[in-house]
Amino acid sequence: MTYRDTYAAWQADPEGFWMKAAEAIDWKRKPTRALFDENAPIHEWFSDGLVNTCYNALDRHVAGGRAEQTAIIYDSPLTGTKARISYAELLDRVSRLAGALAARGVRKGDRVVIYMPMVPEALVAMLAVARIGAIHSVVFGGFAANELAARIDDAAPRAVIAASCGIEPGRIVPYKPLLDGAIDLASHKPEFCVIFQREQQPADLVAGRDLDWHDMQQGVAPADCVPVEGNHPVYILYTSGTTGQPKGVIRATGGHLVALNWSMKAIYGMEPGDVYWAASDVGWVVGHSYICYGPLIHGNTTLVFEGKPVGTPDAGTFWRMIEEHRIKALFTAPTAFRAIKREDPAGELVKKYDLSSLRTLFLAGERSDPDTIQWAQEQLGVPVIDHWWQTETGWAITAIPAGLGRMPPVRIGSPGLPMPGYDVRVMGEDGHELAPGELGAIVIRLPLPPGTLPNLWNAEERYRKSYLEHFPGFYETGDAGYVDEDGYLYIMARTDDVINVAGHRLSTGAMEEVLASHPDVAECAVIGVADPLKGQVPLGFLCLNSGAGRDTGEVIGEVVAMVREQIGPVAAFKLAVVVERLPKTRSGKILRGTMAAIADGRDWKMPATIDDPAILEEISAALETLGYPAS
Ligand code: COA
Ligand code: AMP
Repeated sequence: MTYRDTYAAWQADPEGFWMKAAEAIDWKRKPTRALFDENAPIHEWFSDGLVNTCYNALDRHVAGGRAEQTAIIYDSPLTGTKARISYAELLDRVSRLAGALAARGVRKGDRVVIYMPMVPEALVAMLAVARIGAIHSVVFGGFAANELAARIDDAAPRAVIAASCGIEPGRIVPYKPLLDGAIDLASHKPEFCVIFQREQQPADLVAGRDLDWHDMQQGVAPADCVPVEGNHPVYILYTSGTTGQPKGVIRATGGHLVALNWSMKAIYGMEPGDVYWAASDVGWVVGHSYICYGPLIHGNTTLVFEGKPVGTPDAGTFWRMIEEHRIKALFTAPTAFRAIKREDPAGELVKKYDLSSLRTLFLAGERSDPDTIQWAQEQLGVPVIDHWWQTETGWAITAIPAGLGRMPPVRIGSPGLPMPGYDVRVMGEDGHELAPGELGAIVIRLPLPPGTLPNLWNAEERYRKSYLEHFPGFYETGDAGYVDEDGYLYIMARTDDVINVAGHRLSTGAMEEVLASHPDVAECAVIGVADPLKGQVPLGFLCLNSGAGRDTGEVIGEVVAMVREQIGPVAAFKLAVVVERLPKTRSGKILRGTMAAIADGRDWKMPATIDDPAILEEISAALETLGYPAS
């Protein structure tokens, strides 16, 4: 079946399509139907099935002949370590940790926060939690204590599993003090913490609260899988929204299994046994879906890479990985390729390696610029597929599927065509569908397919308001763009205050909250400005209290340090400028979009509702002092 046939088959019988895909999952009790729409517009999938995620990721493969196949390859240029873990070994490790968690009282439905770097134990922890029907929430290591605390308070975990440290080029990041700080800050206190000690920097344990990863597993019986209902959450993953309070995206078990398993073959072209590498981090959705769950559910070999595309040790690391591990598909963010291209524009390092195993390169997480795509195509000689999705959806909304017969042609600049399950439309503000070529809000007709979010954790009202209310009957993606005559989608911008820095999704609202808490800052705004490496970087405008009498450079240094301290280094907040006033509409709304257009040197129109046009000249002058727009 080609892509067009497959999409048409889904359109003709959506439920039949997903029931068929569900046959590839091992259910304890098969679901009687696919869609549960009793609470529409909140939809669920496979709710009356009984199933376990870990069983499908591990046990069934061990029983089915893959016991000796490598499940995880750990390759860490940052520590000079390599290891291979077979499916049988992984099952053993996961069952033992699961048993230890169960022995400490972790039960179905309990939450467990995981704060770990790119080590195989991060996957062991995720799978162990899923094995006993508990719900994990992984927090990215580049977030600071405050952000971890916000997630601990929202998820109210019974336990936290953390590593003693992470490793970034040139420095060790001690995680344990961040964890201790977060627990101090949080109102909710976990009953216990499990600490995986890394030799690079072991941590002191808090007596009575912290348990050593290995010690706690001594003498404990391994745990069996706890079957859960199809609509039981397997995890919560927090992602940036418009405010400082992150959104807890819920992933329900049944749909997650079905959709990811389907996507591994249909979208990524993988056969069980193939080696698949998503060069991301377990803290992001790409890491959840395509480092941990997708490849393992589908019986592939996955990679846990602890390194960077450049500097560990050089811009040839990705090629070394492909050659050494015979990787068939690579999935990463365009930023990684921009970084490599910047260091090795002529592709000298590419030529040194045998890349014959590689069939396809997939890019997502941010807009792919045509230059990067073309460079990658020329260097690698394989199709480069940009595909578009979000934490909320958990898998690709649009792509060029590599595993559905002859591939539809790639159109550079477009992340492809809608995948089965997604009826993508472009709408004007008034909710009217726009014609091809017209720019508008991108929405998806409800129900969203299996594997996408059914709700936000503890925040159903916010879920309805953020995604369902603006365009009744549709899910609002928060992205703006258009479709062409042939149905290819083009993503142009976000419609909210979310920016994308090196493929990391961040909230300018959250940064503004930090800036506003500085005693000398009267008012502030943060925008995303175009950056040749990271796609976007944040830039802050500060209005200081009159009479503050402070050196502006000093205040800027302080707010930069505050964002790093309170949100984390991943925010990459390094640019700020002091201005007298901020441009606003007559009703007082800050014109962030206009400021961003000026900074990027894009065409912009004077907003009809602007209060005082002269302020934009001041903003322009201030931006020039920082070198924006870049020539
Ligand atoms: N723990 C602690 N700190 C972290 C971290 C982690 N897990 N991940 C990143 N950081 C820190 C970095 O050390 C850096 O700190 P610095 O300001 O002291 O230099 C800061 O956060 C910003 O990190 P990053 O955005 O990674 O920028 P970089 O300059 O270190 O590296 C790239 C640039 C392009 C090499 C890097 O961004 C990259 O590999 N991008 C690919 C992105 C990706 O895979 N995204 C996943 C979505 S699919
Ligand atoms: P995240 O939830 O972190 O995966 O970020 C999702 C957002 O990243 C989307 O809503 C888009 O704004 C952006 N994004 C992801 N993939 C792409 C892509 N292929 N092209 C353009 N933007 C993308």
